Amino acid sequence: MSLEASYGIGVRELSAMSKRGEKIACLTAYDASFAQVLDQAGVDIILVGDSLGMVIQGHNSTVSVSMDDMIYHSSCVSLMSKRALVVVDMPFMSYSNIDQALFNATRLMQEGGAQMVKLEATQRQSEIIEEMSACGIPVCAHLGLRPQYIHKLGGYQRQGKDIEAAEDILQDAISLEKAGADLLLVECITHPLAAKIQQTVSIPVIGIGAGKDCDGQILVLQDILGITAGKTPSFAKNYLTSGSIQMAIEDYVAEVKSGAFPR
Ligand code: KIV
Repeated sequence: MSLEASYGIGVRELSAMSKRGEKIACLTAYDASFAQVLDQAGVDIILVGDSLGMVIQGHNSTVSVSMDDMIYHSSCVSLMSKRALVVVDMPFMSYSNIDQALFNATRLMQEGGAQMVKLEATQRQSEIIEEMSACGIPVCAHLGLRPQYIHKLGGYQRQGKDIEAAEDILQDAISLEKAGADLLLVECITHPLAAKIQQTVSIPVIGIGAGKDCDGQILVLQDILGITAGKTPSFAKNYLTSGSIQMAIEDYVAEVKSGAFPR
């Protein structure tokens, strides 16, 4: 039995996909039924995102999401995901120092079934990521627009627009790879900056609102099904035009793999 058959997609397979130029198709999910549909439709990474604070709980940010919320939704998703890698967000203030980060990442893996944890990061989180990685915890570092900083940012604007800001984000990406991150997720940065990061680091780079030149794409499930409450992000696309949710997800996977999405 191959490793992929017994454990599903892991860090090594993601790296191999990016090296052979195969795009990585990612979506969020928060429950068992959708996890099964996504897994069977060929989604490579299922993210149990703290966006659940908005799309499941109805809040206007991710700040109120707790560790218990993440563990609950993660355990629902991980039971039904056989092939896709299950990545789970560490919620707001659950990784403010090394001990807290190790304790909470352990809970996400042991109680929630996470196979990788994601945290919003700059170079400031390098030591935390270094320790997590040394302990065998796969890490995705989320750069660019970091929604947990909404009350500092004052809005969800594109990041890295001027030369200095772009250079800071590039340096963050380099430091976080060096610290041991296995995957980068870049949200709402300029497309040239995303391309530059992708060319500079050797780990896969997943984009959301960051243009085509990433190793993979991610969207929030509700946004591709056209059931987002409030305003749908401009970079999202409604795929529910094909008659069934299964077909919509399959169309999304096919467009990410072929490069037809994003335009
Ligand atoms: O929480 C989430 O769903 C995310 C995606 C927007 C990438 O981080």
